Amino acid sequence: MFTCRFYLFCLVTILYICLCVGNSNIKKCVEAEKNALLKFKAKLIDKNDLLSSWKGQEDCCIWKGVTCDNSTGHVILLDLRPPNINLDIIPQLGGNIDSSLCELQNLISLDLSFNQLEGKIPQCIGSLVQLTYLDLDNNGLVGAIPHSLGNLSNLQILDLGNNEFLFANHLEWVSTLSNLTYLDLSYTNLSQVVDILSPLTKLHFVEYVELDFCELHQFNLKSTPLIKSFNSLLSFSLRGNYFSSLSWMFNVSKVITHLDLSSNSLQQSIPDGFKNMSSLECLLLSNNKLQGSIPKSFQSLCQLITLDLSYNKLSGQFSDYMQHLCSEGHDIINLKLSDNQLNGTLPYNIGQLSKLQSLSIHSNKFSGIINESHFSNLSNLRYLYVDKNPLSFNLSSNWIPPFQLSVLSASSCNLGPKFPLWLKHQWKLMLLQISNNGISNYFPEWFWDLTPGLAYLNVSHNKLSGALPKSIPSMKPRISEITWDFSFNNLSGPLPSFPPQITLLSVSNNMFSGSISSLCGSSYQNLAYLDLSNNSLSGRLLDYWGQFQNLQVLNLATNNFFGRIPDSFGTLQSIETIHLNNNNFTGEFPSLANCSNLKLMDFGDNNIEGAIPTWVGENLHQMIILRLRSNKFQGSIPKSLCNLSHVQVLDLSNNNIIGNIPQCLDHVTALSNTTFSREPISYETHGYIGFEDYNFGSFSDKAILAWKGENREYGKNLRFLTAIDLSCNQLNGQIPQSMTILIALASLNLSSNNLTGFIPNNIGHMEMLESLDLSKNYLSGTIPESLSNLSFLSYLQLSFNSLSGKIPSSTQLRTFDAYTYIGNPKLCGPPLSKDCPEDINNTYGNDVEGEDDDNGFISFGFYISIGLGFFIGFWGVCGTLILKTSWRYAYFQFFNNVCDWIYVQLLLFIARMKRRFQVQD
Ligand SMILES: *[C@@H]1O[C@H](CO)[C@@H](O)[C@H](O)[C@H]1NC(C)=O
Ligand SMILES: *[C@@H]1O[C@H](CO)[C@@H](O)[C@H](O)[C@H]1NC(C)=O
Ligand SMILES: *[C@@H]1O[C@H](CO)[C@@H](O)[C@H](O)[C@H]1NC(C)=O
Ligand SMILES: *[C@@H]1O[C@H](CO)[C@@H](O)[C@H](O)[C@H]1NC(C)=O
Ligand SMILES: *[C@@H]1O[C@H](CO)[C@@H](O)[C@H](O)[C@H]1NC(C)=O
Ligand SMILES: *[C@@H]1O[C@H](CO)[C@@H](O)[C@H](O)[C@H]1NC(C)=O
Ligand SMILES: *[C@@H]1O[C@H](CO)[C@@H](O)[C@H](O)[C@H]1NC(C)=O
Repeated sequence: MFTCRFYLFCLVTILYICLCVGNSNIKKCVEAEKNALLKFKAKLIDKNDLLSSWKGQEDCCIWKGVTCDNSTGHVILLDLRPPNINLDIIPQLGGNIDSSLCELQNLISLDLSFNQLEGKIPQCIGSLVQLTYLDLDNNGLVGAIPHSLGNLSNLQILDLGNNEFLFANHLEWVSTLSNLTYLDLSYTNLSQVVDILSPLTKLHFVEYVELDFCELHQFNLKSTPLIKSFNSLLSFSLRGNYFSSLSWMFNVSKVITHLDLSSNSLQQSIPDGFKNMSSLECLLLSNNKLQGSIPKSFQSLCQLITLDLSYNKLSGQFSDYMQHLCSEGHDIINLKLSDNQLNGTLPYNIGQLSKLQSLSIHSNKFSGIINESHFSNLSNLRYLYVDKNPLSFNLSSNWIPPFQLSVLSASSCNLGPKFPLWLKHQWKLMLLQISNNGISNYFPEWFWDLTPGLAYLNVSHNKLSGALPKSIPSMKPRISEITWDFSFNNLSGPLPSFPPQITLLSVSNNMFSGSISSLCGSSYQNLAYLDLSNNSLSGRLLDYWGQFQNLQVLNLATNNFFGRIPDSFGTLQSIETIHLNNNNFTGEFPSLANCSNLKLMDFGDNNIEGAIPTWVGENLHQMIILRLRSNKFQGSIPKSLCNLSHVQVLDLSNNNIIGNIPQCLDHVTALSNTTFSREPISYETHGYIGFEDYNFGSFSDKAILAWKGENREYGKNLRFLTAIDLSCNQLNGQIPQSMTILIALASLNLSSNNLTGFIPNNIGHMEMLESLDLSKNYLSGTIPESLSNLSFLSYLQLSFNSLSGKIPSSTQLRTFDAYTYIGNPKLCGPPLSKDCPEDINNTYGNDVEGEDDDNGFISFGFYISIGLGFFIGFWGVCGTLILKTSWRYAYFQFFNNVCDWIYVQLLLFIARMKRRFQVQD
């Protein structure tokens, strides 16, 4: 379609060149039009000085984008589309379209597309009656489309698509554009338009109509005398609307070749009416809710080249589909049936489709064995997507495929346990996704002959072992971005150097060892995502991080790195996420004050010392997760941390922090506002496979966080987590009243500090609290009644304080075990066995002094169970903190914990014995 417009544009230009060649009497531009252009320019925002040639003194016919008629000097063409719209950052024009433009009454072609123009389309545009080409695509225009456009009866191409908020209440004005061949109103809100079809059917020459994402629900078929007149239409695109039925389309056009109804709400089965649509070449029905199989009338679609039925609920056997495809039409080159519920085996007659270039059947229920005969006729196959089917492959080790694939995407489909040897011959591969296939070999030598072409390689989640080659062959010249994922295997040995084009590299969860000095060999200009976590890498980090100017995600967690974190970390301009947790880093923090995009910083479980830097709060205003737990940080909590208004997880636990909890924590909007919008911390990956820009998916960030006394890893849900953990420090003073304003906080852990004073009375305001741990402090006073308002609270620890009085009698608070409250000698009432004085007066009326729980029915077993509960609750939190939390040492930790458990038991036993003796005294 674009090419079509382009040709037309060329045609217009050439026409004028031809008409005017030889006319030596070249007229300069008309003064009035020049002034109009200057007025028009004045309302534009031209940051990049694109219109620098538009100056008062000059002949406006030589201005950039302006073309005049050589004989009359009138401006006839105005083309301000940016020259190279494929660049990432396009220099664009902003501002408004001024009505002075309408003074260019001789304008034949107006192209302002791919800019950032705002505001309304001027009403007067309908007066430019000479226009044959009007393109305002891809801007930020808003408001009603002026009906005066209906006056442009010469218009052949009208493109208003992809604007911000254009709308139309009716399309009557379209019906007078009798010369229109191309109409694009995509993203215009047409939900108020009652009748869309009848104006369109009056366009006798219209070939292309795009109404994508126009909020259309259905066509009013009654008002439309179908549809004989609508018979030039070749391409009709209605992607991203709300159509629930498609039977109307059988009456639309007999010559239609291209129909796109993807991403609508099509339901039930595909109706059987395709007999009269035999010219259809491209049928796109993906991303709907279609059920059943394909109807028989598909047999009439003998011109079909592309059929996309992916992302539906289609069922049945693939062989049914083969039966219902046109038996002569072997021209299908793109067959997409992915993400349905198709089952059965892959039929051999798939080989009938000998022109097939692309076969996409991923995410179905195909089973059975795929062998060489399936592929024997598919010599044109280039793209094969078979991921996520319970298939298995039986391909002999000396099979030479008849095809040369560019893309093989075959994750989770039992390719292993041997390395698929036939890949050896696929030397044109650009995308190879064979993750999660149970492949357990070494990489064969020849594999590294393929990698120079692989823009995307994913061998993760297999059992590949052995070392990688010392240096990986360099990439083919046309490959500029690489995504390689080796994670979750048993690979070992040193880390090789990777090609300098690498954009995403993950080798996490392997057994790589040695230093990472190989990474400082070349400069990795493109590297945006580097995950080396969960290996046995070691050594000091060299101070060369300045070369990673595009690094956004850096994960070095759970290795054996040691020494100081190098200063050059502070030059990582693009960095958003740093995981250095669970290593042996020592010394003080380098300043990361310039890394202002940081959203997640996990330096936990190291031996970093010094004060908590103030620049975190002063500069890193994007911060969402700040985790510094289990280090040797000293000093007090800087007040500037309250300036991190986005912070959702603040974990400073298990350090040597002193002083008070800052009063100002209530400034943290992300914790005080339940409707705060919580963006995922994720990284989108994409890359070019051939000429296509592939989206490889997005990676949510992960973090291990203590939650209800256990460490858990959070991925996708990380963004919904809100927690403050200051436990196991030496904080003193009171819990600030202002903290109760943090009504979005789900977990608060202040245990094992030296806090004094009362539990804030209105703690019941913190309605999202699920987990509250205030144990092991010196808190006094009573437990506030309002605590019983916290209906989500499912983990509560108040043990070992100096709380007194009666435990509030709400059922909410009594569901917690006694170990929630033990170690507060003056606390009474259920679930503690100690009765409160007034209750005792009521029930027994004696022995108020009766000291503690030394009643006959409380057995030694009760103490054990309290101890056990205490062990799980308390040692689950701080025990794991105090001991180094690495899963690899979990085994030893288990024994440590057993020792702790015995220790706790012993303490309890001694305490009990003491009490006995006291009582006897
Ligand atoms: C007008 O004349 C100039 C100079 O001869 C020539 O370069 C240009 O192509 C002509 N433009 C049209 C539209 O004919
Ligand atoms: C253009 O259209 C408007 C409304 O559609 C109409 O009122 C006006 O007369 C038309 N102008 C011309 C010049 O045709
Ligand atoms: C399509 O046209 C046929 C006759 O040509 C008519 O019977 C049928 O009802 C029409 N279908 C729709 C959905 O309008
Ligand atoms: C298909 O076309 C034939 C004749 O051209 C017509 O009789 C029939 O009604 C059409 N069927 C549909 C479903 O439109
Ligand atoms: C492969 O093609 C040949 C010739 O076109 C045909 O006879 C044969 O049946 C095809 N094989 C399969 C498995 O479809
Ligand atoms: C590799 O494949 C796995 C699925 O098997 C997926 O989770 C992961 O995101 C992929 N890696 C990349 C870089 O796309
Ligand atoms: C925190 O922000 C406030 C207002 O934005 C500012 O006045 C203050 O200086 C900041 N404090 C620190 C320590 O950055």
